[in-house]
Amino acid sequence: MPTSPTTRNNRIACVVAARPNLMKMAPVLRAIKQADYQAETLLVHTGQHYDQDMDGQFFKTLELAEPDFRLEVGSGSHAVQTAEVMRRFEPVLDQTAPAAVLVVGDVNSTLACALTAAKKNIPVFHVEAGLRSYDRSMPEEINRIVTDQLSELLFTSESSGMTNLLREGVPANRIYFVGNVMIDTLLRQLPHAPPVSQVLNDANLSGFVPEGQPYALLTMHRPSNVDDPQRLRALMETIVKLSGELPVLFPLHPRTRAMLRQHQLTALLDAPQLACLPPLPYLDMLSLMKNAKVVLTDSGGVQEETTALGVPCLTLRENTERPVTVTEGSNAIAGRDPAVILALCRDILRYGGKAGRVPQHWDGRAAERIAAAIGLWLSSRRDARP
Ligand code: UD1
Repeated sequence: MPTSPTTRNNRIACVVAARPNLMKMAPVLRAIKQADYQAETLLVHTGQHYDQDMDGQFFKTLELAEPDFRLEVGSGSHAVQTAEVMRRFEPVLDQTAPAAVLVVGDVNSTLACALTAAKKNIPVFHVEAGLRSYDRSMPEEINRIVTDQLSELLFTSESSGMTNLLREGVPANRIYFVGNVMIDTLLRQLPHAPPVSQVLNDANLSGFVPEGQPYALLTMHRPSNVDDPQRLRALMETIVKLSGELPVLFPLHPRTRAMLRQHQLTALLDAPQLACLPPLPYLDMLSLMKNAKVVLTDSGGVQEETTALGVPCLTLRENTERPVTVTEGSNAIAGRDPAVILALCRDILRYGGKAGRVPQHWDGRAAERIAAAIGLWLSSRRDARP
């Protein structure tokens, strides 16, 4: 394997770090492998997520190959985590001299790897570029803005991405509106999702939701919702109230579990119609989302997945960086006011909520479009060779 940093090759280093990255990367790797330009892909896992149920089992389901490099950075403050990824990623670039680094999403590792590559003059490709919440208190917003400024090719998932990037001065010829790779994975995997009864059975919750009866699904892990004890308590009390009207299933993210413990709020989880589950395997989560009466979430990916499934979603935030899920999809911004959240849930229970429509290019072929654009880039680079 050539190791000189100046070597021209078709090698693309692809970075994954946290759970949602895996669903985004799987179709991209597949599409690049299937393309006729024969690029070589390297998979680098930074280890930002490391628990078996946040990471390990997803590889098999998503047909992802074992990573070529595992950086095992683990958890830490933003500065420590970001710095540690950079420190450990740089030698990988030195050793492998890729033609480009491909990053997905907006987690700390996305920014860290983009920055490391850019400083070494290695072009960066960003999948899911251009999303903006215009809320810089969100760590992901900082990661998005900086990563996009450093990127050579920017692949957007919805039309707002192009508008945002042009406004920030990114040249139009670097931006490709390709659609949503997460939905590529959803469409491929949905036929394999188990029935709800099986998911409940596996979680020792059989009978918790009688066959065919409505239930709500909740996911919540954003620091802005779970790190502040008062806010977390208010949100959990709202959920407990909701559970008096329909059963609530709540897969617990490790951050949320830790915060509930730290703030001594775990007693709220004892409500009779509220069931906590561990972080779920991808197919189980698809099943619970598809069949839910309503999904409450602060996740970005879940807003998109419910839109693709036509399931009503209430976003427990004041904004979204994925506006198409509201303007076209089944999502509504519920914010954090208990009265508003409960009123919106009751509306959905009574009237069914909006089904919305599936946004442009959320058709299972986003990764193919990305692979085609990368092919063009590789050949233009070859043509420009002195
Ligand atoms: C990260 C991303 C967020 C993404 C989320 C998906 C950033 C800034 N945040 O948030 O954008 O939506 O992943 O899940 O990159 N922990 C474990 N096991 C793990 C991983 C984490 O127990 O495998 C615990 C650790 O105590 C850690 C905490 O969860 O401190 C939070 O993890 P971290 O990776 O810092 O951020 P997330 O909240 O997962």
